[in-house]
Amino acid sequence: MFRKAALSALFATAALTAAPASAQEAEDVGATTAPFTLPDLPYATDALVPAIDAETMEIHHGRHHQAYVDNLNEAVETDDALSAMTLEELVAGAGTLPDAVRNNAGGHWNHSFFWQLMAPEGERGEASPELAEAIDTAFGSMEEFQTAFEEAGAGQFGSGWAWLIVDPDGNLAVTSTPNQDNPLMDVAEEPGTPIMGNDVWEHAYYITYRNARPDYLSAWWDVVNWEQVSQNYAAAVEAN
Ligand SMILES: [Fe+2]
Repeated sequence: MFRKAALSALFATAALTAAPASAQEAEDVGATTAPFTLPDLPYATDALVPAIDAETMEIHHGRHHQAYVDNLNEAVETDDALSAMTLEELVAGAGTLPDAVRNNAGGHWNHSFFWQLMAPEGERGEASPELAEAIDTAFGSMEEFQTAFEEAGAGQFGSGWAWLIVDPDGNLAVTSTPNQDNPLMDVAEEPGTPIMGNDVWEHAYYITYRNARPDYLSAWWDVVNWEQVSQNYAAAVEAN
């Protein structure tokens, strides 16, 4: 129930963030059950330059994320039980489901979450007082948290993700997962509710940074949407 509430909070937050001025401007945040759809990027592909170049964003969103969506739909379409499950349920039960479902449901959830964690200049906000205090309590300072997060991303062997989570006891923790797994999955070694995550697959940074993953991790702070992370923190605490 803890995980399901957290995932629902994510999509509620995404819908809120996208609050349209009119029906024509409605932002597509993606379907919650099959057939799944690619959510719109909440900003232009060049909005995160120079930390993330436009070509990386175009390929990452338009091809990689689209492929996770397409492959997930293909993986569930011939199975009535899987087709009836929400993305949240597919992620939560990933360890008992076929690898194609685990990998692509994870890929779809993780990327949908990730796009919301970044914003153009002037729209990034600051950590809420509650989040800033929780970071100080857990890590000593914002600087020490950022170092721990970068080390988690740099230390993740191969492809994967670095995460800031609210753990089952309500404390903040930094962790990482391989491939497209995430802390909401039943297979997670360190479970919790993600409030921030960074994609450390090479497809997220190779065009600008080549193999220098640590450089990408340190530059990423320039584009973090702290207002969104603060909302994620508040929702996770409430659901915990
Ligand atoms: Fe990615």
